[in-house]
Order: sequence, then C-alpha cells, then structure tokens
Amino acid sequence: MRHLRVPSAETQDWLALCRSSHWLVTTSGVVRLEGGFRGIPLTENAPDETDTCWKGHLHIEVEGKGKGPVHWTERLPKALQQLPPETWPSAYEIQGDVLIVKLEGKASVYGESIAEAMLDQLPNIRLVCADDGVMGDFRVRDLSVLKSRDGTEHTRTRVREHGHLVWVDPAKAYFSSRLSSEREKTLTSLQKLRLRLERPLVIADPYAGVGPAFPLLFAEPGLIEGCLAGDLNPDAVDLLRLNIEYWQSKRADGPLKRVETICDDALQWGKTSTLLGQADVLLVNLPHNSLEHLPGLLQILRRGEPVLIRGWAIREREHLGQDTDNLQRLLHDNSARDIEVELAEIKGFSTSKCFVAFECSFTL
Ligand SMILES: C[S@@+](CC[C@H](N)C(=O)[O-])C[C@H]1O[C@@H](n2cnc3c(N)ncnc32)[C@H](O)[C@@H]1O
Repeated sequence: MRHLRVPSAETQDWLALCRSSHWLVTTSGVVRLEGGFRGIPLTENAPDETDTCWKGHLHIEVEGKGKGPVHWTERLPKALQQLPPETWPSAYEIQGDVLIVKLEGKASVYGESIAEAMLDQLPNIRLVCADDGVMGDFRVRDLSVLKSRDGTEHTRTRVREHGHLVWVDPAKAYFSSRLSSEREKTLTSLQKLRLRLERPLVIADPYAGVGPAFPLLFAEPGLIEGCLAGDLNPDAVDLLRLNIEYWQSKRADGPLKRVETICDDALQWGKTSTLLGQADVLLVNLPHNSLEHLPGLLQILRRGEPVLIRGWAIREREHLGQDTDNLQRLLHDNSARDIEVELAEIKGFSTSKCFVAFECSFTL
C-alpha cells in the first residue's frame, strides 16, 4: 500500500491534511518506519509523489497496518453477522475485568458467540457474564458466566473510582458507578462542614455496600477522623473491610482514629448505645426506603453541633415538594434547629418516578 513518509514529529499535521483532503485510508493505521519516520496510508486518489503538495516527502510501498474491527459484533462468526443488527445487545457494563451484558430476545441463544467476540475485541476483559436482573434487598445481580478468558470464573475484581481502587463483586454485592458524581458532591459538602466545625469529621454510612463513598474522603488530608460503615449483606461487608484496610494504608496523614464496620440492619444502629450521638455526617443510600428509614437513624447524629445528612431515594416526581416538607417536619419534630433541606431530581427512573438526592443540615 502506498504511504507518505514523514518525520515522526510532523505525523499529526500530515494526517490532518490527508484526512481533510480525503486522501487517508481510514481502515489502516500509521506505520512506524526506520530512522524516526512514519508512513501515512494514502488512497488511490491522492496525488502522486511529484505533486508539490507533498513538499518533497517520499511515497513508499509498505504493507498496510490493519486497524482490526472497531466493534465487537464484527468479530462474530460470519453467519451470525448476517442477522439484523438489532439482534445484538447495544450496551454492556464493565466492572474491572468483568463484563456484564443483558441478553434479550434472540441474543440469549447466542450467548457464547457474543462472549467470544467480546473477549476477542476487549483485551482487558477476563470474564463475560449474562445479567439476569437484580435480586432481593441486597440489590445483587443474578449473573451467569458466558465465557472466561483464562478459565477462572470468579467475579471479584477491582474498579477505579476517582482514581482510587475499590474491590467489587457484582455477583455478591451491590456496586454502581452511576453515583460517582454524587460522591464528589459529598466531598464538597463535607469540606464545608469541616471548615465550619474546625475539626475532622466522623462519617456514618449504614448502607455502605462495598464502600464507594469513602475513598475520596479517606484521601482528603484532615477531612475525617472516623468512619462507621455497614451493610446488611455479609459479602458486601467483607469487601468493605478489605477496601477500608487498603484506603487506610494509602492515607497521607496516617490511619483514622476510629473505624467500625458493622454487618447489621441499619435500623439497629439507632438502638446501639455505642453509636448514639457519634456521627457528624450520615449517608443514606437505600433508594427504595431511604426516607422511611431516616427517622430510625437520627439518634446516631452528634448533638449540639451542626450535622449533615446526604441521601438518595427513588420518589414520585409530582410529590417532591411534599417530600421536602416531610423532611423539614421530621427534623423539626426531633427538636432540630437551623434546618436547611434541599431535595432535587438527579435523574429519571420511570415515567412517574425519579432518582433524587437530598441534603439536610441542622443542629440537634
Ligand atoms: C443501593 S445500595 C448502596 C450501596 C453503596 N452505598 C453504594 O453507593 O454503592 C444499598 C445497600 O444497602 C444494603 N441494605 C439493604 N437493606 C439494608 C438494611 N436494612 N440495613 C443495612 N443495609 C441494607 C444492601 O445490601 C446494599 O448494599
């Protein structure tokens, strides 16, 4: 294939010129040549070497560098590629080296071929699993293994959240990266409270799952001094402990003074004497029941100083005003002062329901 030979440092400029002039072969890549040169693949209609547009750069014949398929479906067996494109799943989720895909309709018949094509296309994936939905109160996925690259079939893996590593296991404990930006907002709110209180904070997260709310907070020097984290799912708590141990070891200003990991129903926290009045911040992430559980958790908040609740819930869109009023009333009825409540939709859930984030600051 004919290539334009250019000094490596000029590659991007020449690529831009060839692309805008429609002289670039888009199915082939730039070739590395001896002596610090690069070869740019040229189409048939690009002018020949003598044209002044090439500014004296040579044209050479070298083998094209195939870019390979751009989409995993191009790696399916030829016969399957004849099926209508809508046969194939249009989306999938990756957690660490595990790929999770929902197989609907005809796609469910071709699970193994789909998994093979995905493994061929995505070199960092070890395991492809079919997602058969979410089960029970622990919101854990029903996964079945479609294909493994190396024979291992476990689903424990590590993801990155804002640059920090988090152990997850999609078959055993809930984790979603969808609330990543909310975790950043939690950090900002806590930084403000930290400034106000002029001391590090104790954070309680009774529905912590594997603990994704924490790595950003652990990494912020001087922000927190204690972490009370729990979940009802024992598998989630195992991963939570592993994660906390790791984030503790990475802290620039030494391990936290107080860390408790609790495997229990969050509603027991308000009845546990050692937890009463201990937290400056309460995180409530049980989206189908956050607002209903809240009254049973207020007792763990510190008295006499400003405290903060951040929570997430699935609510009827047309009742959001009422939800805000109910939160105000709940705090007022618990003798809170200086109450500020914000509740706002962060994304849709169904036609009538939405996912909301709420933040309440007050003093008990
Ligand atoms: C939506 S997940 C949130 C997990 C985590 N905070 C996150 O953002 O990834 C809710 C978590 O609450 C846990 N859970 C459900 N009911 C609970 C209860 N009564 N007490 C404590 N944890 C509970 C589930 O096991 C699950 O890990």
